[in-house]
Amino acid sequence: MIRIALIAPYETLKKLADDTFADYPDKDVTLTTIYAIGVKVVPSLQLDCDAIIARGATAAAIRQIYRDIPVIDLQVTGYDIIRAVYRCRQDHGAGKVAIIGSGNMIYGVQSILDVLGEDICCYTISKEDDAEFCVLQARHSGVEAVIGGAMTVEIAKRLGLKTVLIQSGQEAVLQAIDEAVRTTRVALQERAHAERFKAIMDYAYEGIIAVDGEGCITVFNKSAQRATGVPRQIALGKHIQGVLPDIRLSRVLTSGEEEIGELQSINGVMVAENLIPIKIKNKVVGAVATFQNVDKLQELEGNIRKKIHQKGLTAKYTFQDFIGDSQEIRDTIEIARQFSQVESNILITGETGTGKELLAQSVHNASDRRKGPFVAVNCAALPESLLESELFGYVEGAFTGAAKGGKAGLFELAHQGTIFLDEVSEIPYRLQGRLLRVLQEREIMRLGHDRVIPVDVRVVSATNKNLKQLTRQGSFRQDLLYRLDVLGIFIPPLRKRREDILILFFRYLAINNDKFDKQAQRLTPEAKKLLLDYDWPGNVRELSNVCERIVVLSAGRTIDVSDIRRVLAVDESLPEHEEQQPRRLNQATNLREEERLSVRNALAATRGNKTKAANLLGISRTTLWRRIREL
Ligand SMILES: Nc1ncnc2c1ncn2[C@@H]1O[C@H](COP(=O)(O)OP(=O)(O)OP(=O)(O)O)[C@@H](O)[C@H]1O
Ligand SMILES: [Mg+2]
Repeated sequence: MIRIALIAPYETLKKLADDTFADYPDKDVTLTTIYAIGVKVVPSLQLDCDAIIARGATAAAIRQIYRDIPVIDLQVTGYDIIRAVYRCRQDHGAGKVAIIGSGNMIYGVQSILDVLGEDICCYTISKEDDAEFCVLQARHSGVEAVIGGAMTVEIAKRLGLKTVLIQSGQEAVLQAIDEAVRTTRVALQERAHAERFKAIMDYAYEGIIAVDGEGCITVFNKSAQRATGVPRQIALGKHIQGVLPDIRLSRVLTSGEEEIGELQSINGVMVAENLIPIKIKNKVVGAVATFQNVDKLQELEGNIRKKIHQKGLTAKYTFQDFIGDSQEIRDTIEIARQFSQVESNILITGETGTGKELLAQSVHNASDRRKGPFVAVNCAALPESLLESELFGYVEGAFTGAAKGGKAGLFELAHQGTIFLDEVSEIPYRLQGRLLRVLQEREIMRLGHDRVIPVDVRVVSATNKNLKQLTRQGSFRQDLLYRLDVLGIFIPPLRKRREDILILFFRYLAINNDKFDKQAQRLTPEAKKLLLDYDWPGNVRELSNVCERIVVLSAGRTIDVSDIRRVLAVDESLPEHEEQQPRRLNQATNLREEERLSVRNALAATRGNKTKAANLLGISRTTLWRRIREL
């Protein structure tokens, strides 16, 4: 709804306006007409509207008081003047006549008079107080009749002159209403625009400060207020140099050159800032600074990276989860705890199933990087080309099948966190060179790209192979080994710390009883002895699997030696721990054949689902992968 007020300086105009408006087509507009004469009454009007229409000096006076509301002049048209002159001649004859009015009222009157061939002189009132003076002057020069606005006419009457009121015609009223509506609509649009602009500014993450050509601050958004600690009200209108000399906007005003991505300290806070000159026709008329707190930026970046790749980017285990009471395990954990407090790369060695991944996660969670991502990569699980693009990422079009928009590599994803290179011995030789460069330079280059991206990553790698031996054989780069193995942690196999066997066994017993709703709780002495004597080539993973099978098959509370032998025998029929048992490896071919069959059967039974196949075989997915590759 658009509300317009019209100030009528004489009664008939009020009536004319009301009549004219009765037929106004736009029903979204209301018009209030007020009869008021003279500018003195303006302050008492208390207008509440979107636009005001007024005539002559009244309009000028209203403009002074209502600065936020548009004031539209009710124009005195040429017709209005002609009508007034005509009436004057009719009513008052051929005597000397003057037209007296404010500038906006009698503008252009002289030319009309010339056309009419009338010898009438014009007096312009610049202030209301001038009106009486003008009338007196006219009378003095022999004028008998005065043509003018309501106020002038009143004065002239009082001074004994004949008078004719200039009356606005219907066309002028209509024109004024149209203009008031148009102006209001534009003003409303502008206000919405400004509100939107303000909302954008205030909800922008970035601090935004703009200055005019002189360097005075014209925009200072909420983020700028937060980042600088300077209240907006204090900053606005001040010279940037006086408020925030660190922001080099004055320099940009002089140079006209933008400065993008500069690091800068503002009031002791590190920010990344962009300084941009605003130019009109090559002349710098202002400048804008946008900036962001670097810490926030990094946190945000980390969050985004994490969100995008939510799967597997967190480490769930801590040292608390690492079970074992043997001196060996206590020492291992103690070393790992100390290592977690420093930044150097770690290499964890140990047989399969000893908890290398568990330990890697625990290290990450105990380190300062715990809030960052933990990215695990199984280097044995992917063929060379895939592993390369996974690790380092690629840009769009880098190779056939490269995803649109490219893809961030795991190193990028691990920024500010830990990357866990599992089965690191399996990295193909060529990639070892690339990996080495990443570790040396601390930056990566996506495939098909020529730009380096700095990454801050700690590398924890794991292997169950003897890497030293592999370097001697030439299949693993020695320089890479030095980079990876700055700090080494060895997890002893279970058979070297037999005290842990029963602790772990009872832990898994409780878990599995719960899981399968069983009551297997006690071991006969012989059963205990068998568990303790067994060599556990698959270490804790094997123990946990064995325990699960025992519980599933158990009938009562007690587990005896045959219960264990039954599941261990199954295990032994599967020759899965060759790398820890060279004796077996020497038995060569028929064993390999048997292995291949078992892998193939398992894959067939699970329709190629590797996780399920590995479970079926009681081996880790990794081992399964390796086997598939080796066979
Ligand atoms: N000391 C331990 N305490 C509790 N659980 C353990 C321990 N050691 C290993 N485990 C468990 O055994 C299983 C195997 O551990 P993990 O995957 O970390 O071994 P790994 O050394 O990485 O084996 P692989 O070389 O075959 O990959 C996991 O379920 C892990 O939680
Ligand atoms: Mg592992």
